[in-house]
Amino acid sequence: MCGIVGYIGRKEKKEILIDVLQKLEYRGYDSEVIATIESKKLKNYKAIGKLANLREKTKSYQSDGFGISIGHTRWATHGKPTELNAHPHLGSYSYVVHNGIIENYQELKSSLQSDGVKFLSQTDTETIVHIFEREYDKSGNPFDAFSDTIEILEGAYATLLISEISPDTIFFAKHGSPLLIGFDKDEVYFASSDTPVIGKATEVYYLEDGEYGYTKDGKVHLFDANGEKSFNKQALTADKVSAQKDGYRFFMEKEIYEQSRVMSETMMGRVLDNTIALDELDDSFLDGITSIKICACGTSYHSALTSAYLFERISKIRCDIEIASEFRYKEPLLTPDTLFITISQSGETADTLEALKMAKRAGLKSLSICNVDNSSIVRESDSAILTRAGIEKGVASTKAFATQTMVLWILSLYIAQERKTISKDKLKSEITAMLHTPKSLIVTETLHSKLHRLSKRYLHGHGFFFIGRDIFFPLALEGALKLKEISYLHAEGYPAGEMKHGPIALADSELFTIALMPKTMHYEKIKSNVEELSARDTTILAISSLPFELADDFIQTKYDSHPMLEFFEMMVVTQLLALEISVRLGNDVDMPRNLAKSVTVE
Ligand code: M6R
Repeated sequence: MCGIVGYIGRKEKKEILIDVLQKLEYRGYDSEVIATIESKKLKNYKAIGKLANLREKTKSYQSDGFGISIGHTRWATHGKPTELNAHPHLGSYSYVVHNGIIENYQELKSSLQSDGVKFLSQTDTETIVHIFEREYDKSGNPFDAFSDTIEILEGAYATLLISEISPDTIFFAKHGSPLLIGFDKDEVYFASSDTPVIGKATEVYYLEDGEYGYTKDGKVHLFDANGEKSFNKQALTADKVSAQKDGYRFFMEKEIYEQSRVMSETMMGRVLDNTIALDELDDSFLDGITSIKICACGTSYHSALTSAYLFERISKIRCDIEIASEFRYKEPLLTPDTLFITISQSGETADTLEALKMAKRAGLKSLSICNVDNSSIVRESDSAILTRAGIEKGVASTKAFATQTMVLWILSLYIAQERKTISKDKLKSEITAMLHTPKSLIVTETLHSKLHRLSKRYLHGHGFFFIGRDIFFPLALEGALKLKEISYLHAEGYPAGEMKHGPIALADSELFTIALMPKTMHYEKIKSNVEELSARDTTILAISSLPFELADDFIQTKYDSHPMLEFFEMMVVTQLLALEISVRLGNDVDMPRNLAKSVTVE
């Protein structure tokens, strides 16, 4: 994770860097820094914690005239979130910022230490700046020194380096972590993603892995293993406007309320009267495909789990789901008749991206379901279906999950339609249900205030079980993840039928059970499972359209004509419950501790 920014030009650098860092803060917020070279001298400001602290520290600083500058927002990987471990890391005359992990840093550090280099931090990043200075001391050529440094590094990185020996130059390199270059007249920007430079740069170049170079005098010199290369910039579209809270207390709250609207966007042009249209997929897309494998992480993994039920039940195609970080190292058997799907809100998740690259190397056809156009995962995939959720700022994902699940439902129907495994009537009834989903996602004041009141009863106890069956099992996992991310309370999702195989041993009055009890899917079965828990005195919050007399608390849902409508309505209930509990506990809802929005380290 971590976010990096660079700017070279005449404008006030502090404002530019802080503005970009604010938009990159979703990538981590353990410390924030800016560094400049003005009048050939290095300067830096570091602050622990969120950007407000850096703003305070730099109150009286203003950059002057032409200069170069870099900045960083950190999600700690090596070493605690302290000022010494905050970037930029300093050599004798150079600074470096970095996103990623240098895997061979221990070995590099030992060799540098045996040459007498003193390390100030516990980070892997600091090795970069010392190697650069060691190489410069040998060659006397800054760019050669930088290229030699890059060659030695192993792991994932996007890095920017500035040095007093070349005070008008920013050196850059990308391998495995995102980095782009923005252009406006003779000004050059660097950033970990494009949204923060919209309104500043008019054109952009997304660096590929293995590319590196330097920028000086408004020109960018780009290299890869074959030497210097030309590159094409593309226009930076201004329609990715930055998100505002619009009167809501938190981005997460706003994003929960937005779900009804964005769901309509997700369906637009895809869910038609009697058919499903996916223009993103060409006519031969499904040729030769006999099974699907999906890789994802976190919430995206939960939407994948939900879809496995739909692909097998509706499309009649085998579907396996894997957590990307597990898939990467299990030496999976991959055959070219498998469609490889990755799901990612950000499109930058390192494990998911690497899983995709592995599948491509094995010759599989790839499809990504993603919320960010031009992200690494979208660019790497053969085809992509965008979820159209709009920018999601809350670290706890909500509308991204809803729209991913919708895209997967659409895709399952598309495959069924193309393969003719669905009758016209069934397709029509699925489409009718789909078109009702925006209604099931509307947050009413009555519902929100009921959850606000209820939340005070769920602040203590020794843990939560979210339970459900079938597609409501992944929803239970997702409900539990949401709650633990922002409340820091222990929560687990379980298939309801599995409780008796062990977890029910935890049942007592201090155990909270959130029971997802859809009318349209195995109601009687889950009812028995919840009764077994009630008999052991657990506190039960039941969510159902059917009254359930053993519930200690009850949220009555309205849309019960189709399992997916019940799914989406219950999803909103679990999201609001997590939100209200977190607010009562006084936590930072949008930027919960230890997390980051985009996880670009493995
Ligand atoms: O950007 P991605 O969808 O690939 O991210 C995957 C997970 O890191 C993400 O879903 C994470 O679990 C969220 N914090 C969940 O709220």
